[in-house]
Amino acid sequence: MSLVPMKLILDEANKAGYGVGAFNVNNMEQLQAICAAAAETSSPVIIQVSRNALKYADKGLLAAMVSYMAEKKYPQIPMSLHLDHGPDLETVAECVKLGFTSVMIDGSLDYSRKDEKGKHPARSFEENVAITKAAVKIAHAAGVTVEGEIGTLGGIEDDTVAGAVHLTDPVEAEEFVKQTGVDALALAIGTSHGAYKFPVGHEIKLALDIIDDVHRRSPKTALVMHGSSSVPKQMVDLVNQYGGKVPNAVGVPTAMIQDAIKRGMRKVNIDTDGRLAITGAIRKVFVEQPQKFDPRDYLGPAREAVKAWMLEEMKAFGTAGHAGDYKPVSTKDMLKVYFPAKKKAAPKKAAKPVKKAAKRKK
Ligand code: G3H
Ligand code: 13P
Ligand code: ZN
Repeated sequence: MSLVPMKLILDEANKAGYGVGAFNVNNMEQLQAICAAAAETSSPVIIQVSRNALKYADKGLLAAMVSYMAEKKYPQIPMSLHLDHGPDLETVAECVKLGFTSVMIDGSLDYSRKDEKGKHPARSFEENVAITKAAVKIAHAAGVTVEGEIGTLGGIEDDTVAGAVHLTDPVEAEEFVKQTGVDALALAIGTSHGAYKFPVGHEIKLALDIIDDVHRRSPKTALVMHGSSSVPKQMVDLVNQYGGKVPNAVGVPTAMIQDAIKRGMRKVNIDTDGRLAITGAIRKVFVEQPQKFDPRDYLGPAREAVKAWMLEEMKAFGTAGHAGDYKPVSTKDMLKVYFPAKKKAAPKKAAKPVKKAAKRKK
């Protein structure tokens, strides 16, 4: 089938109460691995591309590869192509033109500016609403789904908020959804991107109660968990065993992701786990078979390693077995959802003929 709007995949997950992995790709092997895992487990899947991936891999090429997978190779799998952390409206518009079926506008940060530490400063609520509303206007006009973000990612420790991290305020989130019309909302609950999410030896804490509150207030909005890689110990050990240096890496335990899904999380973003799987597999070939120099000899095992982990994720999130649950919908069909035809106004009742007052007989 053609790529479907992400809204379809997440609405269905919301109805049935499971999570869907959104996996980042930069190259052919990652895409093949994720799609193969989805097909083997019969799972709907979201393929996402960051702005850096767009730069790295030539945007049109990635979009064409993902469309090929959806239309030709795995037509039985509902698949969406999503822009991850869209920095501005130009990128959103460009991706809509390229055939993406979903875009994120990351209005929580101002990507056009950097502070003295080289970080993008946070946007105010009003600024975030304004840019997100503009993205919704561009995307919905093409039947494309929109994910917004409220709050900033980062870790929480001992119930205190570290650095400039702002966990999502559920009341603000409800207002944000109302004002912007987003389909999906990324929440800041204490996760962060990358392989070092929590200090080693400390209790891992996430503000999971925020999910309950936001889900209760906006039950139809698909909630999104960024920074969801589990950073499995066996992957990190493999990388380090074969000469890598990834010390003290800690991710989100799978059981915690499952708890988040129970509370209403629907989209689970995973990038780092794929990177670690690839790196471990390649390092192993390089060390054990140093005579090899055909990229297929190490990219092949790397692809297998990604597939093996994504299979586990799809089962753990409850996505497995749901690919055939519903009929595909195109971005064109989605226009009917975004812009329902207004009911024709009932014809005005013909005005009763005014009885002319009988001419008085003089
Ligand atoms: O959210 C961040 C993703 O992991 C993408 O990372 O910008 O290095 O492609 P990237
Ligand atoms: P990880 O770094 O935990 O894989 O998070 C990826 C992500 O949130 C992409 O948007
Ligand atoms: Zn993210």
